[in-house]
Amino acid sequence: MNKTYKIAVIGGDGTGPEVAAEGLKVLKAVSEKYKFEYETKDFDFSGKRYLETGKLVDDKDIAELKKYSAIFLGAVGDPAVKPGIIETGVLLKLRFSLDQYINLRPVKLYDSKFCPLKDKKPQDIDFVVVRENSEGLYKGMGEFKNKGTKDEVAIQISYNTRKGVERCIRYAFECARKRNKRKKVTLCGKTNVLTYAWDLWQRTFYEVAKEYSDITTDYAHVDATTMWFVKNPEWFDVIVTDNLFGDIITDLGAMIQGGMGIAAGGNINPEGVSMFEPIGGSAPKYTGKNVINPLAAICALGMMLETLGEVKAAEAIEKAVIEVSTKKLKSLAAGKMGYSTAEVGDLVVNNL
Ligand code: IPM
Ligand code: MN
Repeated sequence: MNKTYKIAVIGGDGTGPEVAAEGLKVLKAVSEKYKFEYETKDFDFSGKRYLETGKLVDDKDIAELKKYSAIFLGAVGDPAVKPGIIETGVLLKLRFSLDQYINLRPVKLYDSKFCPLKDKKPQDIDFVVVRENSEGLYKGMGEFKNKGTKDEVAIQISYNTRKGVERCIRYAFECARKRNKRKKVTLCGKTNVLTYAWDLWQRTFYEVAKEYSDITTDYAHVDATTMWFVKNPEWFDVIVTDNLFGDIITDLGAMIQGGMGIAAGGNINPEGVSMFEPIGGSAPKYTGKNVINPLAAICALGMMLETLGEVKAAEAIEKAVIEVSTKKLKSLAAGKMGYSTAEVGDLVVNNL
């Protein structure tokens, strides 16, 4: 008897439920083709629910989610709720409480026509960002002094532990080995200014590197990294960085691979429950219009299946996404695809 995967589905806000539905359509199709069983359960952690009940994600929800094989997330962010509440109370609460300490964000160009950079080809843009996902400036540590006065000071602390940094760096080296492409890990930091945090990161990086003599190392400051993303993206294979830098550079990464319509990521706890999501937001202005691109969510679903060990299904999804995006879609942008959200989901299913 094969095991049955238990998938927790968090549609979330805005276009989240629409793109998640297309992902689930693809999940149903690949499960039939590759013969695995799964069941899903919806969890409502939306802004709407928060406004009605005051509820976000609580410890009981976390205990429940720990019983699942994986979490599939649409999007979070409701313009009706003050910024920061849903983000910290839902997304960051899930990432932190489930100790999803890696945010894995592949940046892969499927066709030159999707790339805003001149003369860049698919072979030039194929790297992954390993973003530390549990510490740094996201930890929420800090304080106000003299709040509201002209002498106000706001302090926001970047919190980096040796253990947290090391497990992230080690994951990046393992990832470079597994990818078996350029076999290179680039540390992206700011050693010239942030002399505590990046001293720890740098020391740890070169210590861990000694265990991986087959992998080349490199270092780039975060500002320079954004420049190289535009100028020489072909230099990168695996990039490892902290939480905030990873957040910033992966939005740029998403753009050079064709935009938020295609960019997916995984919040990974290699020993626990991981969560997969399209990295774009909830796109409120497109909500309910059936125009948002579901490919990012479908790619996130593929990452989920790969992590669960359904590698053949994941490969089939990527092939279908390449086929549909390069041969059918006019653009990867919402409203400009030449097809509706649901039609793009159907096209992927038909190309499996
Ligand atoms: C992301 C998002 C989140 C982040 C927000 C919504 C809290 O931008 O997943 O990149 O900053 O991590
Ligand atoms: Mn972001």
